[in-house]
Amino acid sequence: MTLHAVDLIRKKRDGEGLSADEIRFLVEGAARETIPEEQLAAWLMAVFLRGLSLAELDTLTTAMRFSGDVFQPTGLGRKTVDKHSTGGVGDKTSFLVAPIAAAAGLADPMISGRALGHTGGTLDKLESIPGYRTQLSLDEMRRVLEECGAAIVGQTQNLVPADRKLYSLRDRTATVENPYLICASIMSKKLAAGLDALVIDVKTGSGAFLRNEDESRYLAALMVETGERAGTRTVALLTDMSQPLGQMAGNWIEIQESLALLGGERPRLSEDLREVSLLLAGWMIFLGGQAPSAEAGRALAEEKLTDGSALRIFRAMVAAQGGDLTALDAGERFHQPRFRRDFRAERSGYFVSADCTKIGWAVQRLGAGRERAGEPVEPHAGLAMHVKLGDPVQAGQPLATLFTQDEARFAEPEHLLREALIFGDAPVPPPPLVRQIISVENKNSFLNPPRRP
Ligand code: URA
Repeated sequence: MTLHAVDLIRKKRDGEGLSADEIRFLVEGAARETIPEEQLAAWLMAVFLRGLSLAELDTLTTAMRFSGDVFQPTGLGRKTVDKHSTGGVGDKTSFLVAPIAAAAGLADPMISGRALGHTGGTLDKLESIPGYRTQLSLDEMRRVLEECGAAIVGQTQNLVPADRKLYSLRDRTATVENPYLICASIMSKKLAAGLDALVIDVKTGSGAFLRNEDESRYLAALMVETGERAGTRTVALLTDMSQPLGQMAGNWIEIQESLALLGGERPRLSEDLREVSLLLAGWMIFLGGQAPSAEAGRALAEEKLTDGSALRIFRAMVAAQGGDLTALDAGERFHQPRFRRDFRAERSGYFVSADCTKIGWAVQRLGAGRERAGEPVEPHAGLAMHVKLGDPVQAGQPLATLFTQDEARFAEPEHLLREALIFGDAPVPPPPLVRQIISVENKNSFLNPPRRP
């Protein structure tokens, strides 16, 4: 029977389930661009509003995973392990965990994405290093992995092309913040890399796509279920995203902060980033069989960070993917925004809470993200935070420094920050960094969709 996209949109809109053939038809249409964008966008919105059954989600993820070529890690002589985050502000854990895992004897074929909504994109950050290529063929990716143990690349016309199309459409059609679409997007990329094990960093709090903790837990359980069904050992850590992770949020400045940690520095404002990265890497090392427990994995991860081996691997990976190491060596001197401006406290008190999504939008509007699909992003735009939740502040103190290429871009981010940063008279303890760990053992308790507020 001939399938028509419009019938499938109508079916999902009216709350009916789609058959496996119908879902495969839509995914193939996205990958080959035979279904027009307006129909794909309408279908995404129908899924956003109506949701998917577990069977539909499984079919969608599998169809997206096989929408192009898949990576076969056989012959690498190492277990393949990866980490993926559900999207955050200042989240640069990938630049730490991939080389740490490689230093611990694993291979990390990381397929990442670009800025999405208010969150930054790993690929955009890496491309701020002059020459760094994120669009590698599978053979090139294999060569980088053989040489360095870690490769960080993007979706291409051949690698998960359905996600490439749908990811960019979701960004433009307000259909990002949905557990089924996030799960299919992430898991299709991760499973296409042929992983033995996967650690998911599910963000929760005001800067996460799913702010509500029950929704974050549900998303975590969906991803663990999907990964385990496909034969990849999967664990999810629910981590805090109530404020930017670390100090920097932008493109190059996030690379710069990561390099400082890889080089053994311990700035106070980057401690949360260091700790979350070590915990995630610890789980990767444990699931990859290089340590007897996640705690032992964390200890090994710390060793690889402090002895400089992770830094050596990061540099080797950047060079192998075409990046210019002189930029890495120049560090702060390479950071050349045309304009920088401090954002100062209007009152004294304590930094008690933040709307981290607004901080993320401030970063994007400074030029770190794009207004339209395909636009270039500004490598040196972004902001450096100078305070963490719980800190005392004095009126007039700089709370953040904003960087941009275009002075006219300051106004909106300043307005967003004024709304986003909240001060009180008494200190409030910051939320715990890790809220929960969801694995094959406890996932079933969280597989019931929470009621929408
Ligand atoms: N990261 C992805 O790759 N996809 C999403 O939908 C969200 C975060």
